[in-house]
Amino acid sequence: MIKGKPFVKWAGGKRQVIDELKKYVPEEFDVYYEPFVGGGALLFELSPKKAVISDLNKELINVYSVLCDEEKFKKMCSVLNSYEASHSEKFFYEIRNKDRNKNTFNRLSDYTRAARTIYLNKACFNGLYRVNSKNEFNVPFGKKLKVNTYEGSNLITVSNYLTMNDIKILGVDFEEAVKDAKKGDFVYFDPPYDSDTGTFNSYTEGGFGKDEQRRLAEVFKELDSRGVYVMLSNHNTSLVSELYKDYNFHRIEAKRNINSNGKKRGKIEELIITNY
Ligand SMILES: C[S@@+](CC[C@H](N)C(=O)[O-])C[C@H]1O[C@@H](n2cnc3c(N)ncnc32)[C@H](O)[C@@H]1O
Repeated sequence: MIKGKPFVKWAGGKRQVIDELKKYVPEEFDVYYEPFVGGGALLFELSPKKAVISDLNKELINVYSVLCDEEKFKKMCSVLNSYEASHSEKFFYEIRNKDRNKNTFNRLSDYTRAARTIYLNKACFNGLYRVNSKNEFNVPFGKKLKVNTYEGSNLITVSNYLTMNDIKILGVDFEEAVKDAKKGDFVYFDPPYDSDTGTFNSYTEGGFGKDEQRRLAEVFKELDSRGVYVMLSNHNTSLVSELYKDYNFHRIEAKRNINSNGKKRGKIEELIITNY
């Protein structure tokens, strides 16, 4: 089977550590849940037949939905082709600033918005998706002279995977996304990282602070008590080790590139926590 791969570069994306992550996936499970799906590295790697995926980032989830509709998917690709041809710094800011006027932005077709999300991801600085408190995309131009916004064969593979299997796509908070998970299902939580120093976590306008990390740990415990297999990735911080002290810790070394300050790039200890 040819597997799809992430079609966007995503902060905290798990492509670089996928082999490590796979080691801790249960051998068998019923429905796969990924409530912080982002670029979907593990989703595509496992390509389960039954899954519920979700992310609070509405623009990203809109791309997944467009990929599930053949006509819209084709239209999105032709918009992307025209964006590639028009690519320049001025054009980037024109597309980026479309979300400054919510009335006109909300009237854009879903496939045009999906093309905008992919284009900005490829053309912005360092492939970040970051918004301010008004939910306006605010990453500067990446200074590339030319951008390749998509790999056609991968998008077709991803689209076939999403449409030919039982994949539910939601754009809701993680707690809501896993509410129907049952004994024997598998939930993989990959939240924005906790940090003792303040790393990037502005994927959505609300951010993801310590209270969100605590709420997530409660949901983890609740799923555990229901007999769901639960796996979670996070950084090894004092809060994380306290919140999950009753579970199993597996340490992996992850190379992270998303910090724009070159000096801060490097190895960070990443944890995989499981209840099995
Ligand atoms: C570390 S990233 C996930 C990366 C993903 N596993 C991958 O391989 O690309 C965390 C994701 O959580 C999403 N997110 C933030 N707050 C959320 C919430 N309350 N509920 C659901 N998703 C949320 C962000 O939009 C972001 O895509």
